[in-house]
Amino acid sequence: MVFKVSRVETKPIDGQKPGTSGLRKKVKVFIQPHYLHNFVQSTFNALTPEKVRGATLVVSGDGRYYSKDAIQIITKMSAANGVRRVWVGQNGLLSTPAVSAVIRERVGVDGSRASGAFILTASHNPGGPNEDFGIKYNMENGGPAPEGITDKIYENTKTIKEYFISEDLPDVDISAVGVSSFAGPEGQFDVEVFDSASDYVKLMKSIFDFESIRKLISSPKFTFCYDALHGVAGAYAKRIFVEELGAQESSLLNCTPKEDFGGGHPDPNLTYAKELVARMGLGKSSSQGEPPEFGAAADGDADRNMILGKRFFVTPSDSVAIIAANAVESIPYFSDGLKGVARSMPTSAALDVVAKHLNLKFFEVPTGWKFFGNLMDAGLCSVCGEESFGTGSDHIREKDGIWAVLAWLSILAHKNKENLGEEKLVSVEDIVRQHWTTYGRHYYTRYDYENVDAGAAKELMAYLVKLQSSLPEVNEIVKGTRSDVSKVVNADEFEYKDPVDGSISKHQGIRYLFEDGSRLVFRLSGTGSEGATIRLYIEQYEKDPSKTGRDSQDALAPLVEVALKLSKMQEFTGRTAPTVIT
Ligand code: G6P
Ligand code: ZN
Repeated sequence: MVFKVSRVETKPIDGQKPGTSGLRKKVKVFIQPHYLHNFVQSTFNALTPEKVRGATLVVSGDGRYYSKDAIQIITKMSAANGVRRVWVGQNGLLSTPAVSAVIRERVGVDGSRASGAFILTASHNPGGPNEDFGIKYNMENGGPAPEGITDKIYENTKTIKEYFISEDLPDVDISAVGVSSFAGPEGQFDVEVFDSASDYVKLMKSIFDFESIRKLISSPKFTFCYDALHGVAGAYAKRIFVEELGAQESSLLNCTPKEDFGGGHPDPNLTYAKELVARMGLGKSSSQGEPPEFGAAADGDADRNMILGKRFFVTPSDSVAIIAANAVESIPYFSDGLKGVARSMPTSAALDVVAKHLNLKFFEVPTGWKFFGNLMDAGLCSVCGEESFGTGSDHIREKDGIWAVLAWLSILAHKNKENLGEEKLVSVEDIVRQHWTTYGRHYYTRYDYENVDAGAAKELMAYLVKLQSSLPEVNEIVKGTRSDVSKVVNADEFEYKDPVDGSISKHQGIRYLFEDGSRLVFRLSGTGSEGATIRLYIEQYEKDPSKTGRDSQDALAPLVEVALKLSKMQEFTGRTAPTVIT
């Protein structure tokens, strides 16, 4: 039987503008009639029919609630739009980094290659019937669609009149690996369900020295713990850490992917990764017994990571700097040297110092992984990272949570190569403190004010921009608040000109730069699904090795006070404290 293509009349639906990383909304919004359909058709139209016809597309995600329905809808719309093949990870599961790897590396059973993907995730946002769903499109380089495409998608959502769907195509069983073939009006249409982890595991094995990591993990003095927060990382953690690297099953926490992430907030930070934080001996409710040497967590779609040592937190900004400083000797993939390094603007300047010492090309880009992709495609950047718990390299075009863990395990394995029989191993904390002694320390913290009234957040930002036009006024406020804080010498909104394609991105965060190198940055989050989230990033550089060991909240207290005063945070938002401090 040949499946039919139906043309369905529709009308534009408001608010389908993709954010920093795709369209994220409450499930209740997504399940409205035509909502997902409009967005998917708008994407096909933005890609243009020539690129869609005959294409092979990946459709999968972090397995959150509504993914299974969405996969069937997108498959039927793909068939109707002339797509030749849809590839689905078993049970609809593929981490965001694995999707990127699959686009770049996988060869289908019939020799085909994919040219893009719909990734179904709202990343670190909670899941379940009352929580978030999300969708984003990735291109043939394995990276998120550039602004040129996402803008077109959005324009299309505002004018859409029709979409195409093959309603009579039967639902595909995505739990079983294999190919289902169907006859369509324009020829054959296949759905290939494949193992979610194999391609990714193969890629990781080509990057890292698994044997040396295995030796580290098997040392009785090395203990390890990984928390997937019930996200899709669990599907990879078992394969990599337990089967390939010999870690104990009991090292894995929350590694069964769940549609609602077990009711939790799948964001790997000190607030939301509670169980891991307690196990690692951090926080108020730390568990009994000796914490593991190394701990890590991932977000829902496994592109973010948090790295912890025993009773020790590694800031993401330090993490990328330390990986960059140690990559060449610890990770075979980088043995010929790094092409360059990059960070997002609000990320601390720890990476800048490493780049300078090692004489590496260095780039500062706006928030959002897509900006790194251009640099990588042009061969300008090998390692990059963001303060928002994202770290990665040019092996794919997404940040990669498990890659970051393997990078840290590689550094630990290298530093302990001659040491595995000794009384004490070189620890995560030793590595970080040594790094600070060599390069200085960037004290760093981020204050998040979540779900603030959107109007109030805009007013606060507008006020901060206006204030920038008078530095004397700014400095009067600074001095009147804390006499021990240095003066503001520059204030602007970050603007970026992409060195590869020349595109310009404006209004990428409000910066106040101080004479001693300290920084305050204010930004509105681009990944929330409700109200507005104000992010305040606070940073201070300390070069003197005798002063790099302070508690970071203590060290930053004066700057925090200044930031709250400058921004009139309480006045605008009514908030006396942030929702999350990282
Ligand atoms: C996503 C992007 C990251 C970005 C982050 C910022 O995770 O992939 O590249 O750093 O969002 O989120 P925000 O909420 O600060 O816009
Ligand atoms: Zn994510």
